[in-house]
Amino acid sequence: MTVGIERLAVYVPQYALRLADLAVARGVPPEKLTSGLGVREMAIPAPCEDVVTLAATAGARLLRAAGVGPDEIGMLLVATETGVDHSKPVSIFVHDLLGIGPRCRVYELKHACYAGTAALMTAADWVRAGRERRALVIASDIARYEIGSAGEPTQGAGAVAMLVGSEPRALVLGEQSGTHAGNVHDFWRPLDRRAAIVDGRYSVDCYLDALSGAFGAYREAERPRLGPAEALSDRLARLLYHTPFPKMAMKAHRRLVEVDWRAAPERWARVAPRLDDAALEAYRELAAPGLEAVARVGNTYTASLYLCLAALLEAEGTALAGRRIGLFSYGSGCCAEFFTGIVGDAVETVADAGVGRMLADRTFVDVEAYERLVGAGEAGGDPPADFAGEFVFAGLRDHRREYRRPGVLAA
Ligand code: HMG
Repeated sequence: MTVGIERLAVYVPQYALRLADLAVARGVPPEKLTSGLGVREMAIPAPCEDVVTLAATAGARLLRAAGVGPDEIGMLLVATETGVDHSKPVSIFVHDLLGIGPRCRVYELKHACYAGTAALMTAADWVRAGRERRALVIASDIARYEIGSAGEPTQGAGAVAMLVGSEPRALVLGEQSGTHAGNVHDFWRPLDRRAAIVDGRYSVDCYLDALSGAFGAYREAERPRLGPAEALSDRLARLLYHTPFPKMAMKAHRRLVEVDWRAAPERWARVAPRLDDAALEAYRELAAPGLEAVARVGNTYTASLYLCLAALLEAEGTALAGRRIGLFSYGSGCCAEFFTGIVGDAVETVADAGVGRMLADRTFVDVEAYERLVGAGEAGGDPPADFAGEFVFAGLRDHRREYRRPGVLAA
């Protein structure tokens, strides 16, 4: 059975901060952020937004665009590491806001930035098992680090909703994947903290080691087998990576092609003397085209890889129709997976996840306003006048979280 992603929709918050402004406020050269990390802008949620409203807005837009009724969804999975309750899952709030019927399997998944991929793989297996309805997978996160910390320029927020079924016009998922897991303390967020704790440079090493493991496992299992001069990346039109900041994807691509080329002795003999130049050429062709949106949104944790996918299909889906692409997912802690998919032949009918439109319409704030927004946290309440989301976190009543549509008065 052919299974994969039928369509995607994206939601990113209305507010954004230019990284050049943040650099000036923190006393670092702007190029360190815009070129050293590769981030130009980062999305900032309004106080009336949380991970539920981000997910529900992306989900509502997806169902509308796909013309799929809520009753057609047999499984709803929400992946996040920004949960709002230790017990009650984000997914059940989203289920309610989207009006999905009671005959649905609903749960939240967490494994740092890997959870979105865990959800996608679970949903694909569920469809392969012969279910008649579709699965809705939503990856939704708010990346938070302490103000003034090295991680601060790598914040962001957003959600990506994916309809998973047997008519995958966006991406037909391959059945093979390569995985890597290990208990590392590179990045984590204890239960009493809003912002993550991170061992930044170590996390980069953990990411790259997991990439070598997952990609190496995938490469070994590739069929038809690769010849001594053939790289797996020769069979891929684009490579997408979990992207906490675009420079990370560049480092990842450098590592991937090195692993790939070293495993092909005839290729390695040719390429080794000019490895840096060859890797950079490969990066420009295969990886850079997938990074435009993430450079303008920042880290969306578990949604990041799928934001890259949605933006890539929007920008060049038609040219990629029928071609195979590679995807690498990394979640700190850690678990990683490399997999591939074939862009659907009819992708042009679904290649509008709303990314370009949303990025063009955002409101830029200065550093003072950004710090106020971060300080306010998720206070809930009325949306600002320029609010672009479809749901609002109204606040807590008797320890219960309440949500509503903007413009609808609280009961
Ligand atoms: P830093 O202090 O900015 O590090 O922290 P740096 O001093 O090494 O500078 C960064 C880059 O800027 C370097 O480039 C410098 O050379 C360059 P590189 O050598 O790496 O290619 N640079 C300049 N470039 C141009 N002009 C200049 C200039 N000065 C310096 N004037 C760090 C960087 C990533 C550690 C920090 O941002 C951080 O802690 N981020 C959060 C952790 C993170 O994103 N880790 C990534 C891997 S783990 C992951 O992806 C999982 C995650 O998403 C969480 C999850 O799974 O849930 C985080």
